[in-house]
Amino acid sequence: MSFLTLDGVGRRFGAVQALKGISLSVEKGELRAIIGPNGAGKTTLFNLISGYFPPSEGSIKFDGQPILAVSPNALVRRGIIRTFQITQVFLSLSVYENLRVAVETAMGLQLRPWISRNVRNQVEAKVEELAAITRIGPKMDRIVGEMSHGDQRVVEVGIALSRHPKLLLLDEPTAGMGDEETNHMTDLIRRLNKEQGITILFVEHDMAIVFGIADRITVLDNGTMLAEGTAREISENPACNRPISAMRWRRTRHERGSGNRWCAHLLRQEPYSARRVAEGGGGRAGGAAGPQWRWQNHHHAQRDEPHAAKSRQCETVRA
Ligand SMILES: Nc1ncnc2c1ncn2[C@@H]1O[C@H](COP(=O)(O)OP(=O)(O)OP(=O)(O)O)[C@@H](O)[C@H]1O
Ligand SMILES: [Mg+2]
Repeated sequence: MSFLTLDGVGRRFGAVQALKGISLSVEKGELRAIIGPNGAGKTTLFNLISGYFPPSEGSIKFDGQPILAVSPNALVRRGIIRTFQITQVFLSLSVYENLRVAVETAMGLQLRPWISRNVRNQVEAKVEELAAITRIGPKMDRIVGEMSHGDQRVVEVGIALSRHPKLLLLDEPTAGMGDEETNHMTDLIRRLNKEQGITILFVEHDMAIVFGIADRITVLDNGTMLAEGTAREISENPACNRPISAMRWRRTRHERGSGNRWCAHLLRQEPYSARRVAEGGGGRAGGAAGPQWRWQNHHHAQRDEPHAAKSRQCETVRA
C-alpha cells in the first residue's frame, strides 16, 4: 500500500476549479517533485494534503488512514509537516531561539515556566541535532531577520524537522535564492530524503533541481494532473511539452526551444551532484560556465521580498 494516496481529489473555490480529478500515490521514502505553471494548483494540493482545506471531492489516505476532516494540527502529530511558499520564521529571534522554541513546542513544553535539567539537556541535544542536519550551526547566534533569504529558508526547514516529519511538504523551497543558497537547500532536501529517510514532496520551478534529484515527477496544469513518472518518462511525454514550455526559465536566448527538447538536453547533462556542491561548484547541470537553468522566479521573489521587508519593519517598530 502506498504511503500517500489521493483518489479523484478536487477542490473548488467558488467558480474556480483549482484542482480536479487528482489521483496519485507516493511511496514511503520517495522524493517527489510537483511541477507546473503558475496557478496549476500545486499549493492547493499541499493545502489539501496538510489539512488546510478539505477537498471538494475525492479521498486522501496517509499511512493507510483517511485524512479527510482531520485538522492541520492533528496531521502534524501524525507526521505531515509542511513549509510555506512564503517563509515562516520568528524574524526577531536568533537561529538558536527559533530552533529551541520549535523543539520545546514539539515536546509540549511551551507553557511550562520551569523545566528540569534533564529535559533541558534533551532540548539542547535536539537543537544541536537540527543544527547539524541543516548545517546552520555556525550561524546559531545570528538574528534570523538579518540573515539572507536562503538562510531563513534553512531555519524554516530546521523548524519543520523539530516535529519529526514522516511526510515533508516543501512549497518552492528554493524560490528567490541565489546559486549557492539553492545548492545548499537542494543538498539538504536530498540528504533529508536519503539519510533521514523522510518522504518528501516538493514544489519546484527549477528544472535542473527537479530532474536532478526527484525520484518521480508529477506535472500539474490548470488544476489537472497531466503526467507522473521519472525524469525520463516526463521528458519523453508529449503532453508535458506545452506546460513546461509555458514556464519561464533563466536561459540564454539560443537555448530556447520546446520543453521536451529542453528536458532531453538536460537529461544528457551530468546529474545534480552533491560532490560539486561540496566543492562549491555549479551543482546543477551545465556547471558554472553552462547555461543559466534557473527559472526566473521574479513573481515569487517579489512576493517574498516585500513580505520579509514588511516583517523587518514591524520588528523595528516593535523594538
Ligand atoms: N483560497 C483560495 N481562494 C480562491 N482561489 C484560490 C485559493 N487558493 C488558490 N486559489 C486559486 O486556485 C488556483 C490554483 O492556485 P495555487 O496557489 O494552488 O497555484 P500554484 O500552482 O501554487 O501557483 P504558483 O506557482 O503561482 O504558486 C488559482 O487559480 C488560484 O487563484
Ligand atoms: Mg503555489
